[in-house]
Parts: sequence; structure tokens; C-alpha cells
Amino acid sequence: MNKSLKVLQPSEMIAGSTNRTDAWWKEPLLVVMVLGGFAIYATWAALQNKHYFVAPYLSPFYSPCLSANCADCTLPLIGKWWNLSPAFLILWVPGGFRATCYYYRKAYYRSFFGSPPGCAVRDVSKSYKGESAFPFILQNIHRYFFWMSLVILAFLWWDALHAFKFEGKFGVGVGSLVLTGNAVLLSLYSLSCHSCRHIAGGGLDVFSKAPARHRMWKTFTKLNENHQLFAWISLFGVALTDVYVRLLSMGVIKDFRII
Ligand code: FES
Repeated sequence: MNKSLKVLQPSEMIAGSTNRTDAWWKEPLLVVMVLGGFAIYATWAALQNKHYFVAPYLSPFYSPCLSANCADCTLPLIGKWWNLSPAFLILWVPGGFRATCYYYRKAYYRSFFGSPPGCAVRDVSKSYKGESAFPFILQNIHRYFFWMSLVILAFLWWDALHAFKFEGKFGVGVGSLVLTGNAVLLSLYSLSCHSCRHIAGGGLDVFSKAPARHRMWKTFTKLNENHQLFAWISLFGVALTDVYVRLLSMGVIKDFRII
């Protein structure tokens, strides 16, 4: 054997190295831009503490509005002593739900942590231990975030119904459709969750003995096949709904009344 040639051990290979010749880095880069952009926008919108309500529309970033100081208080569980943005009282639930989502985990582990950056691309991080140790073992609380998100979702549907009421009378504005569309997309995202599918059909040995659960499991499985798609379009949906309410409240745009 030629002594000038050295066989590299796996530990000596360069982080992020690969024999792939396609542009595998495009997808992780896109995820960093979109997910990072959403996180920055959501934090900024939550910090604003204004322009989140214009009758009858309430931004989903502030719903349910739980502080007595809210511009449109849904449920005054927190007194006027709460001086921070009411968005911080509830955003941790949908934020935690998305952060621990099985699909997003794959997306941001690859994009932000480079673990691994792509198929057949070497891990950037040498210390990644999977989800078997702290802190990533905490991702297991996803199933509890699922239940809490259903509560938030119920309030978003309430907001969507409320968006058809103009000074006590039924009406339809573009905002009514925007809020309803947002509730539909978030329902698709939540009901396509892996935890939801497991709740419906998990732990069953014989489906024929639980036909109702089997039917639910088949429905949720169909939704689950598109979970990645619902994850992204509901992310855009919730951000655009906030943008719509914000621009209306600022007087930048006007709400077109259909009925
Ligand atoms: S797996 Fe994505 S929301 Fe549960």
C-alpha cells in the first residue's frame, strides 16, 4: 500500500462533508429563512402590544386575550396588574406545540443544528445525542402541547365566528374569511398531528374490536400524510392573519365588506 495515502476514519471526516453533487443545502437554507423569519416576526408582533384588534377581528397571536388590559378581552383571567403584552400569556402554547412538532424537529435539527444537514451529509455537531438526553428529551411533552393547542384552537374558532358579527348584526368582511381560513388551516395542522393519530388508534391490538377508533385513525392518518404541508401553510396563514388585522388597525388598509 502506498504510504502517502491515508484511509480516513469516520471521526476524521469534515463536518458537513458529502459526496452529493446536488444542491442539498437549498432546503435547510430555506427552512432557516422561513422559520427564522416567522420567529422574528412573531416575537416582534407580540412585543408591540397594540394593533392586534379592530372590531370584530382579533389577531391569532393575542387570542384568547386573557388580561383585563386587553383591547378585546376574551376571558379576564389575569387582572390589570399584567402590564406586559397579553400575547405572552398564550403564545407559549402554539409556540411550544410547533417547537416540539415531529415534523418541525426534523426540519430545524437539519437546518439550524446541522444534525444532519441532509441525507448522506455528515453531521456538523459531534455531540448530538438524539432525544435520549436533556434537553431534547423534553420534546416528549409534545402530546401535552397537543391538548393545550386544542383549547387555543377552540378560541380561534370562536374568534372566527365572532368575525361575522358587525355591531350586533351578521355580516361578512374579507377579515371574516381571513380569520376563518386561519382557523381551518390550524385545525388541519392540529388534527394531522402524529399525537392525534396515536390518540385515535394507538395501543389497539385489534382494530375490528374498536371500529369507531379505527375510523378516526384512518381519517387522521390521511391528514397525517400531509402534515408537513399543513405545517407550512398554517404557519403562513397565522402570520398573514396577524398582518391583515395589524394593517387594518393601523389604517393602512380597509376591510372590504362582502355582505
Ligand atoms: S407532530 Fe407536528 S404538530 Fe404534532
